[in-house]
Amino acid sequence: MKILVLTGGGDAPGLNAVIRGVCKRARKESLHSEPWEVYGSIEAFNGVLNEPQEIIKLTGKKTAGIHVKGGTILKTTNKANPIKFPVVQPDGSTQFFDRSDELVKKLKALKFDAIINIGGDGSQKISKTLFDKGLPMIGVPKTIDNDLSATDITFGFQTAVQIATDSFDKLVTTAESHHRVMIMEVMGRDAGWIALHTAIAGGAEICLIPEIPYDINKLVKKIGARYKNGRGFVNIVIAEGAKPKAGSITASAGEKGSEHVRLGGVAYQLSKQLKDAGCQAEIRETVLGHVQRGGTPTAFDRVLASLFGVKAFELALNKQFGRMVAFKNNSITSVSLEEATAEYNFLSKDSYLVQASKGLGISFGD
Ligand code: F6P
Repeated sequence: MKILVLTGGGDAPGLNAVIRGVCKRARKESLHSEPWEVYGSIEAFNGVLNEPQEIIKLTGKKTAGIHVKGGTILKTTNKANPIKFPVVQPDGSTQFFDRSDELVKKLKALKFDAIINIGGDGSQKISKTLFDKGLPMIGVPKTIDNDLSATDITFGFQTAVQIATDSFDKLVTTAESHHRVMIMEVMGRDAGWIALHTAIAGGAEICLIPEIPYDINKLVKKIGARYKNGRGFVNIVIAEGAKPKAGSITASAGEKGSEHVRLGGVAYQLSKQLKDAGCQAEIRETVLGHVQRGGTPTAFDRVLASLFGVKAFELALNKQFGRMVAFKNNSITSVSLEEATAEYNFLSKDSYLVQASKGLGISFGD
């Protein structure tokens, strides 16, 4: 029996723990039933599409101890969607081609008994298409953004929040020394999960998230109230996708070949908006960026990712294809790929998380 594993989209701490979980559980199964071999496709589906193919055997030696490492030993890309494959043309423009039939043909020829695709929303949509075209697909959710509604939590999220919180703590001491307003921008795309968890953990005065557009005048008032006789300080966490009321997101132009517009730089926009609206305090900006996706996963993310890996193998063993592993109501379970990709996991304004944050004195500028 042969399984193919691959990692697609942006990396997240915990990917290696999933890969190791699949391999360890497969080796265990091989002890008392037919032998299971696990292979990895390098750089998502590129390893299958490329000529020559790049598919490696995941031996015990290759996966030993990798659960502690960030990144992915299989490499990844968010620019190789087989359904909308970007190809740069001689004039510099990018055209997109559907290579899914070619991919299905190649995968069928390789005779894998199961294909485990570890990835976010985009990757699971690809899994669904390939499943509909007859491939034995199994999904494992991954993203630091925590924006998949079919699972209560994704691995990588906790690590990102921990990194952001450690950085926030460092900004608090320097904000206090200089009586400054410190703005820290975090990732999360259209969801404010990383921002709000960091704001609560760090003790921010203001947290701005995509789900709650902010009123700049209310923020200026809140900051002013924290300053007396030129003394005071304020720490703000802003999600990269946050926007003012009657405003739009801050995006560095869509990158060539990418389906997504690249976010980033909202901290500088907010700084300017505050000054324009009359904020007297000195302001500094920090854009945390990809540091949030790097390094070793937290213990929680290693555990979650390892369990996801074991569960993914067990879905393969039981021929439960067209499903994605999930963590729901404190247990490891699975959902159909259809459910997995149906909804985006926004942070609800009415959630207890938002209400409790207001109770802690955090302003959303609403
Ligand atoms: O989805 C994960 C994420 O890190 C987002 O939070 C962020 O907007 C995006 O990926 C960055 O993508 P890239 O690595 O392509 O710059």
